[in-house]
Amino acid sequence: MTVHFIGAGPGAADLLTLRGRDILARCPVCLYAGSIIPREMLTHCPPDARLVDTAPMTLDEIEAECVTAHAAGQDVARLHSGDLSIYSAIAEQKRRLEARGIPVSLTPGVPAFAAAAALLGRELTVPALAQSVVLTRMPGRASPMPEGEKLASFAATGATLAIHLAVPQLARIVEELLPFYGADCPVAVVVRASWPDEQVFRGRLADIAPQVAAAGVERTALILVGPALAPEDFRESALYAPDYQRRFKGREGL
Ligand SMILES: C[S@@+](CC[C@H](N)C(=O)[O-])C[C@H]1O[C@@H](n2cnc3c(N)ncnc32)[C@H](O)[C@@H]1O
Repeated sequence: MTVHFIGAGPGAADLLTLRGRDILARCPVCLYAGSIIPREMLTHCPPDARLVDTAPMTLDEIEAECVTAHAAGQDVARLHSGDLSIYSAIAEQKRRLEARGIPVSLTPGVPAFAAAAALLGRELTVPALAQSVVLTRMPGRASPMPEGEKLASFAATGATLAIHLAVPQLARIVEELLPFYGADCPVAVVVRASWPDEQVFRGRLADIAPQVAAAGVERTALILVGPALAPEDFRESALYAPDYQRRFKGREGL
């Protein structure tokens, strides 16, 4: 028996990986958060699977579901939005299960920042403009930010910022970023990327906050900031230039 943590992707049911789908199809128990996992994804579960919406549950109750399944020798599929590697709260679940000797596995998913970039039609790294992406968040009731992880410190790098769990604080974020990126810096706010009601707001640091406030956006939105979002002129990467020395022919990405 194993508890399989699965990254369910940003929303669209067909952005689940094939591996995730196959695990879902063979697990008699599926735990999912109803607000962020599309019902359509659950059609991959066996018809008689026990489907548990964890949205209203505590960590103790989620653990108890896994313990019960373990005692019955039933595998569990545990769906989390996006990818498991950021803001998925799997660390504490995994620690509790491992303390009980319950095996776990992790299957990655498409993260929200990648879905947002695709919707914008943008690469988040553009030669000479930005070669790093900072995945960060604003502090919330559930998780304060560690002392060294100030938005201003990340902004000082000029990298592309992907700010999660933050849209209600957009006006304050703009104030913090203005001294580093300037009023003309491109910004996009992507809401519910890949869901049927997805929305995109594009603007500059100077004008994005009123647009988003007027639309009443409060959650499931990603704020992307940086010059890579609207590159007017940039040099091409040397990677495919005719005179580029390809030491590893066929392995250009290395
Ligand atoms: C708890 S975090 C989960 C992140 C997830 N593990 C990932 O890999 O993207 C939830 C936040 O991710 C962002 N997010 C998740 N799904 C999104 C989507 N479909 N469109 C835009 N932002 C999304 C929002 O900032 C939301 O507040």
